[in-house]
This record gives sequence, C-alpha cells and structure tokens, in this order.
Amino acid sequence: MASISATPSQLCSSKSGIFNPCQALMCKAAKIQFLGKEKERGLRVACQATSIPADRVPDMGKRQLMNLLLLGALSLPATTMLVPYAAFFVPPGSGGAGGGTVAKDAVGNDVIAEEWLKTHGPGDRTLTQGLKGDPTYLVVEMDRSLATYGINAVCTHLGCVVPWNAAENKFICPCHGSQYNNQGKVVRGPAPLSLALAHADIDDGKVVFVPWVETDFRTGDAPWWA
Ligand code: FES
Repeated sequence: MASISATPSQLCSSKSGIFNPCQALMCKAAKIQFLGKEKERGLRVACQATSIPADRVPDMGKRQLMNLLLLGALSLPATTMLVPYAAFFVPPGSGGAGGGTVAKDAVGNDVIAEEWLKTHGPGDRTLTQGLKGDPTYLVVEMDRSLATYGINAVCTHLGCVVPWNAAENKFICPCHGSQYNNQGKVVRGPAPLSLALAHADIDDGKVVFVPWVETDFRTGDAPWWA
C-alpha cells in the first residue's frame, strides 16, 4: 500500500520567496525514496522546508486596512437594504403619543377633534379606523364633546361589523341579531361579550386611540380584549 508524507512540513518557497502549495509539493526536486524490500510498495516524498524571508512577509497593517475597507464596502449596501426590510415588519400608522393610534376618517385622513365636532352632532356615533385598523366608533356626547372612549365595532359573536342604529339607540348586528346599548354593552345575544373599548384621547388636536386595559366601566369586569 502506498503512503505519501511530506516532512517536516509542506512549507516550501518559490523563487519569489512566497509560499506556494503546488510548488511546495514539487519543489526542490522532491526526493523520492524507495525504501527497502518491505517498503517497496511504499512511497515517501520528502520536501525540503524553507522559511519565508522576513522582509517578504506580507504587511499585516495593510492587510487589516484592506479588510476594513472591504467590510465597509459591504456593510453600506447591506444596511441600506436591511432598513426598509425591517421597516416592513413595523405596524404602520401610529404616530400618537404613548403607543396610541391616530384615528382616521372614512377617506384615511387624521381625525381633528375640532373639525369633527363641527360636522357630527350630539349622540353621533361614526366609524373611524382605530387600533390595529379595527373599525371603531367615535362617540359624541350629548353636551357636544367627544367621549373619552371609542367603541370597537367588531361583533363579539362571529366578527361582523355592527352598525349603529340611531332610531333604536343601539348597535344591532345584522348577522345574527345581537344587540348592544349605546355604549357597546351587550344587551342581547348570541354575542357573549360587550364590544371592546379604546381610550379616545386628544393629542395636538387629533383624536388618538389608546388601548384600554383598565376595568370595563360598563360591566365592572376586567377587559376581556386586553
Ligand atoms: S356576528 Fe354579530 S350576532 Fe353573530
């Protein structure tokens, strides 16, 4: 069986003094020695080791500089691509203080409280876009002020959007007939729970919905949606 070994190492130098692994195996007219009878089948390649002259050792400082330049050249486009990619996963449209969401009207404009009250009278309940894009009623109190809460319009039965019925002074779900009072408290099933609430704050003139995590003032219970 043939065995090949290079000793003491495969470090060989070319005429230029720079290590070349191909030349290393051929360099210095590698001596092939046939070893005795019992080693007739064996082959040993001897290679003379030489060291790289000190004055030919690559400049480590230059190599590090080149590495830094290469790293910088790669990092810039990578970062440029990464930022919009990461932004894709950030929920759009907040902008309100304290993690709130600015309410949007039917055409997607921010709801300005003062402007809203000019066109929405006492007792009005009109849908806006609220937290997580959920349809949310903005409530105008009888004293012409905005209520400090918004009512999520998603029915707690099977998720239909529940319209406001001004004549009945209730929210009445068209899907299976559930009914909620004018604050969204369930008064008739099959809906099992009241409509969810959100705080309706005013920040810099705009209506901002903020998650409601306190007790549900209509039932005295912990908020099931929080
Ligand atoms: S989805 Fe509203 S009552 Fe069924």
